[in-house]
Amino acid sequence: MVRIKRISMDDELYAQEIDLRTRILLAPLDLTIQDYLKMTGDREQRSEHFVAVVDHQHGERVVGAATLCLPGADHDERCGKVQQVCVNEQRQGEGIGTKLMIAIEARAFAELAIPGLYCHAQLSAMGFYERLGWVAGSDVFQEAGIDHKRMEIVAPRPEDVSSVGDGGLGPGMYP
Ligand SMILES: CC(C)(COP(=O)(O)OP(=O)(O)OC[C@H]1O[C@@H](n2cnc3c(N)ncnc32)[C@H](O)[C@@H]1OP(=O)(O)O)[C@@H](O)C(=O)NCCC(=O)NCCS
Repeated sequence: MVRIKRISMDDELYAQEIDLRTRILLAPLDLTIQDYLKMTGDREQRSEHFVAVVDHQHGERVVGAATLCLPGADHDERCGKVQQVCVNEQRQGEGIGTKLMIAIEARAFAELAIPGLYCHAQLSAMGFYERLGWVAGSDVFQEAGIDHKRMEIVAPRPEDVSSVGDGGLGPGMYP
């Protein structure tokens, strides 16, 4: 059973989050996590960290990750930026990425009242965001040598949101 958790950078799962992001997203671009942190300033600290975990005999194992950078001065003043979305290569196609995105949208829209979210999607992943209702908001541009497009979604209007009940979820736990 895959669970989505929002963790702090002090959490012992953070090291696994970094390992996964490095393997799936950074290493293919020839980047280390140190390179990424240098390029992004204090964004890592200003982001909320979401991980998808499964139980393992030695404890929880991180199989997916994504970050939500809260609106701030160095990018869009009003909208949150979703970054570093990745799923363990052996668990892709099982709906884990979707669960992470739903958790981030729930956090951003229902809890933080952020009016919209955006990300810089690699062209190869655009279909993933489109299936979630995100739309392209830019032409193609290059980032880290790869073609990207800005993808966006706005918060649902209150009248469009139906009650999802409490679901028995604890703090930092998402459906
Ligand atoms: C992209 C990624 C995060 C998606 O996570 P996932 O758990 O594999 O996706 P899901 O299983 O939730 O897929 C949801 C839907 O999106 C589709 N989808 C997944 N990845 C896709 C992609 N790269 N392109 C187009 N569609 C994609 C799935 O087929 C599925 O469609 P369906 O509902 O019709 O079956 C994951 O495949 C990944 O880590 N890829 C490598 C890193 C990457 O590209 N990250 C994004 C950087 S912008």
